[in-house]
Amino acid sequence: MNVGVVGATGLVGQEMLRVLDERAFPVDELRVYASPRSAGRRLQFAGSEVECEVLRAGCFDGLDLVVIDVDEPLALEWAPLAAAAGAKVVDKSSAFRMEPDVPLVVAEVNPDDLASMPRGIASCPNCTTMVLVTALAPLHRAATIERLVVSSYQSVSGAGQPGMRELDEQWTKGAGQSEQLRRAAVTDRALEPGEVWDRPIAGNVIPLAGSVREAGYTSEEWKLVRETRKILHADSLRATATCVRVPVYVGHALAANIRFSRPVSRDEAADLLVGAPGLQLVDDGHGSPTPLEAAGVDPVLVGRLREDPSEPGTIDLWVTGDNLRKGAALNGVQMLELLLERG
Ligand SMILES: NC(=O)c1ccc[n+]([C@@H]2O[C@H](COP(=O)([O-])OP(=O)(O)OC[C@H]3O[C@@H](n4cnc5c(N)ncnc54)[C@H](OP(=O)(O)O)[C@@H]3O)[C@@H](O)[C@H]2O)c1
Repeated sequence: MNVGVVGATGLVGQEMLRVLDERAFPVDELRVYASPRSAGRRLQFAGSEVECEVLRAGCFDGLDLVVIDVDEPLALEWAPLAAAAGAKVVDKSSAFRMEPDVPLVVAEVNPDDLASMPRGIASCPNCTTMVLVTALAPLHRAATIERLVVSSYQSVSGAGQPGMRELDEQWTKGAGQSEQLRRAAVTDRALEPGEVWDRPIAGNVIPLAGSVREAGYTSEEWKLVRETRKILHADSLRATATCVRVPVYVGHALAANIRFSRPVSRDEAADLLVGAPGLQLVDDGHGSPTPLEAAGVDPVLVGRLREDPSEPGTIDLWVTGDNLRKGAALNGVQMLELLLERG
């Protein structure tokens, strides 16, 4: 297959190249695209180097598959051009996710939705949604989820390279200093907000991930609610979310309270989750997987599985996953594999 990766120098794009290689995806020719800043830069792929191109008319000619790993405005412009050039397109931005004629796919959950791609474009969900839905799907199949209350703990890499840089810079300012100076850095407001977040992210927790939209909910919160409904084919699912940014480099986590159409016990939930595709139940007593444990591995990790004593038949769980891997690149490659299988 001739494969193009747009945004190949970014966090997701770089992970994409690694996962394509690791899973030995059959790539005949790889073309990589980035901004004019990266033109001519050479990227490593499968033991050789490939040179970055800029996006221009006709740049997708001859490609079978194109993966879009850039922000929404660029995806809106270039994904349809890639499809018009004859490629099947997997877009990881939010540009097309909620379009009714674009499938939104988690490989382990709703692969059959890829059967209909009238625009030649399929979308990958938001990284937080991806982690959550992988854990919800086995439960939802057995006992329809009626109501969901979720809080997220999202790492800075969810905001791309600028998010990683901002945390780095702020840590560096605080690191290596005495305890007294570190306290002063915070109390004296010496840690200035950066460009991505309006408050310091180092040593902090920001209870507002994304930008504020209708009803006081943020863009991230609406994505989590709406994308979950679309992927699970559960239009009437009642869900509410609070999305929080935490000073963690890689790995998103969520705490979820889940009510079903019938009571579900902890033991039944554990039976449904054990061996479910794409996830690992960390169930050693009070299994509490952390984002650091999830970073760099394929499955999402589920723990803290317990019954909610305030609402019989309701389950609480914790789930964490690598936002760059299952949350983006791995799912992208799995979608390419599914497209290849389907011909
Ligand atoms: N980060 C995550 O956890 C995550 C998870 C799921 C989905 N996503 C989505 O994946 C996409 C990429 O996110 P990311 O985190 O990888 O962002 P990122 O690290 O900031 O990378 C952005 C990429 O876009 C490229 N780019 C910028 N301007 C361009 C232009 N004019 N022409 C061509 N390429 C251009 C950059 O190239 P240069 O290096 O040359 O600037 C870079 O390769 C976004 O839509 C994001 O919402 C991200």
